[in-house]
Amino acid sequence: MPSVCVFGAQWGDEGKGKIIDRMARDAEVVVRYQGGANAGHTVVVGGEKYVLHLVPSGILHPGKINAIGAGVALDPLALLGEIEGLEQRGVVIGASNLRVAANAHVIFEHHKRIDQAGERWRGVGRIGTTGRGIGPCYADKASRTGLRVADLLDPVRCRERLRAALAEKNALLTQVHGEQALDLEQSLERYSTLGKRLQSYVGDVGAELRGLWRAGRKILFEGAQGAMLDLDHGTYPFVTSSNTGANGISSGAGVPPRAIERVLGIAKAYCTRVGEGPFPSEELGPIGEKIRSQGNEYGATTGRPRRCGWLDLVALRYALDLNGADGWIMTNLDVLSGFDTVKVGVAYRAGNSRWTEFSSEMPSLEQVQVEWQEFPGWREPIDHLRRFEDLPQAARDYVEWVERASEVPIVMLSIGPDRDQVIPRAGHGLFASQPGPVVAPGRALV
Ligand code: IMP
Repeated sequence: MPSVCVFGAQWGDEGKGKIIDRMARDAEVVVRYQGGANAGHTVVVGGEKYVLHLVPSGILHPGKINAIGAGVALDPLALLGEIEGLEQRGVVIGASNLRVAANAHVIFEHHKRIDQAGERWRGVGRIGTTGRGIGPCYADKASRTGLRVADLLDPVRCRERLRAALAEKNALLTQVHGEQALDLEQSLERYSTLGKRLQSYVGDVGAELRGLWRAGRKILFEGAQGAMLDLDHGTYPFVTSSNTGANGISSGAGVPPRAIERVLGIAKAYCTRVGEGPFPSEELGPIGEKIRSQGNEYGATTGRPRRCGWLDLVALRYALDLNGADGWIMTNLDVLSGFDTVKVGVAYRAGNSRWTEFSSEMPSLEQVQVEWQEFPGWREPIDHLRRFEDLPQAARDYVEWVERASEVPIVMLSIGPDRDQVIPRAGHGLFASQPGPVVAPGRALV
C-alpha cells in the first residue's frame, strides 16, 4: 500500500472510521491532520464498538504509529479521556504508538464556552456546530493568539500567553454573552497538568512523518468531516474550520504534497448532514425518517439526529474532483434495502439555469431544486453478502450507474458496520502495493 489519503466526500459521517480501520492493517503510520474532537470515527471490531474522536484509527492495530499533526485542534481533556477509555478496554498506548505534534493548537475551556455561547448569540443564523470549541480555537490560531501543545509544557510561556488570551476571552464571555469569567489560575493549573500527562507523546511530528515518508513507510492520512464541510471549498459558512480533504494534508501533517500518492473518497449510498446549512437532496418526510431509522443516523459525537436524503451526485462529483480521488468507497448500501424507488440528485435547477457541475457561481444552494434520476429499489437485506455478483440486480444496477456517473471507480462497497461487511470490487486495484494511478481517470463516461 502506498501513502493514501482517505477523505469524506459528503458532509461528514460517511463511514470513514471503518474503512480507515481496515486500511490501517496495511499501513505503518496513521495520521490525523485536521479537525479535532468534533469528529467521531466509529469502528466495530468483533461486535464491540469503538468511537474515536481524536486518536487515529490505527490505534486498534498493534504496532502502528498513530500521529496527531499540527493541523489538529487538540483538546487535551478529550484526548486523555479517550486514551484512558481505550486503555481500559485493553488497547496499549504509549509514546511509541501515539505521537502528538508540539505545534498543534490547544482547545481550552474558553474555546468551548465561546463556541456554544456564539451559537446561542447567532440564534437562527447558527451553524449548528458540535460545540467542541473547534472554530474559536482555529480563529485564535489565525489571529496568532492561540496556545500550542508545547506552550502547555513551558510554565512561564503558558502563563504569559494564557493570561493575555483569557483577558480578551473573559471580556467576550462576560460583556457580550453574559457568562461567568474563567479564572486564570484554575485554567493554568488544569491545562498544565493535562500538558504534563501528555508530555511523553509530544514531539516534532512533522519531522517524524517526513522521516518516515522518506524511509518509504506506508502512511494513511485519515481525514475527518467531509469535503462539503471544507472551510474554503465547502458550503460556507455552514462548514467546519479546517481543510478536510487531501488539500489539508501537507499543512496539517507537515509533509510535502507529494507524500500523498493515492486519494480515496468515502461516500454513503445516500446523503446525510448534521447541523445547519443547505442540503439540496434532503428528504424531510417519511423517506428521510426511514433512511434515518434504517441507517441509525445519529451523530457519533453529539448524538444529534442527522438530516437524511438521497445521494447528491453534483456534490459527490465535486468532492471527488476537488480532492483528485483515484477511487471511492460507497458505504451503507445495505441501508437502502426496502425502498420501492431509490433516487439520485443529478442536477440543480434555479430559474432557467441548470447545473450538473458544482460551481461557486451557482446561487445559494438553499435556492436550488434538484433534478432526480429514479431507480427501482430492492427489498431484500444485503448485509450478509460478500460478492458483488450476489447483490440483487437492482442494487448492482444502482451501484454501476452511480459509479459511471461519478466518473471515478468505486473500489469497495460497505454493507454494514462490522470490519468484514465489505464487498471488494473486482478490477479496481486501489489496494495494490505499487503506487501510481489505479485506473485511467476516464472523465466522460455518462
Ligand atoms: P464544528 O466543526 O463543530 O465547528 O461544526 C461545524 C459544522 O460541521 C457543523 O454543521 C457540524 O455539525 C459539522 N461537523 C463537524 N464535525 C463533523 C463530523 O465529524 N461529522 C459531521 N458533521 C460534522
